[in-house]
Amino acid sequence: MLSLRSLTKVFERGTVNENCVLDDLSLSLAAGDFVTIIGSNGAGKSTLFNAICGSIALDTGMVVLDGKDITKQRDYKRAQDIGRLFQDPHTGTAADFSIEENLALVYAKVKGRFALQQAIRKDDRLFFEEQVLRLGMGLEKRMKMRVGLLSGGQRQALTLLLATLSPPKLLLLDEHTAALDPLSAKAVLSLTEDITKKHRITTLMITHNISDALSMGNRTIMMAHGKVVMDIAQDERRYMTVADLLERYKKQVHHDLDTDRIVFS
Ligand SMILES: Nc1ncnc2c1ncn2[C@@H]1O[C@H](COP(=O)(O)OP(=O)(O)O)[C@@H](O)[C@H]1O
Ligand SMILES: [Mg+2]
Repeated sequence: MLSLRSLTKVFERGTVNENCVLDDLSLSLAAGDFVTIIGSNGAGKSTLFNAICGSIALDTGMVVLDGKDITKQRDYKRAQDIGRLFQDPHTGTAADFSIEENLALVYAKVKGRFALQQAIRKDDRLFFEEQVLRLGMGLEKRMKMRVGLLSGGQRQALTLLLATLSPPKLLLLDEHTAALDPLSAKAVLSLTEDITKKHRITTLMITHNISDALSMGNRTIMMAHGKVVMDIAQDERRYMTVADLLERYKKQVHHDLDTDRIVFS
């Protein structure tokens, strides 16, 4: 489904700051895979997502999505097939527009219509309400509320809904719940599982929460120094504890996993 072949990216090549952030990295995902990614700060996780989305150019390597080589495809083209969420809940939705208008904007793009030039159609309005109802946050009663007034968790849930309104082939989640309070994070993660399962969206999720990394999805990879240093699935993963995983990391990389706020449970 997704095939990353020998991706290499060196920042500031030829200077004292030369930094090989993706080092001959290869990874393949099957359709419907939900893969969690963990790794220390600076391991190259976000850069990997940038390479998949086309927001940075690779030095060498190939990105193949659904059998198509998209290595040279422009980022806005790839955005039709790839959804992405960031840590900051302020990205991904328009603060000055209402919940309903945010949905209408994305929906118009999906349908190839001009947005906001015409009033929102009655049947669309009902469809939007149905979608928002599924978030389970009571927002369907506040469709005309400005998105800027929502809490971080509500806003991130809405962002997830917008990113999957037309289900993408691939969904990239870059610590999308790290800035949320624990309860909101839990709600957004559960929604993430529901939506990706329902549409069978192939997903890569970067997280600092090792427990989530093991419990969500069907496979976990660990990145260090621009490489995949660990790739676990099935029974091995099923029986792995957070402590096992940290130990395994240390054995492999020869230092402790270090992130800003490593979360164990
Ligand atoms: N556009 C860029 N220019 C120069 N260096 C960069 C750029 N983007 C990322 N880096 C560097 O690449 C390394 C990996 O960054 P990143 O992929 O964001 O790590 P992670 O998401 O795993 O914490 C870091 O050392 C970072 O400073
Ligand atoms: Mg990052």
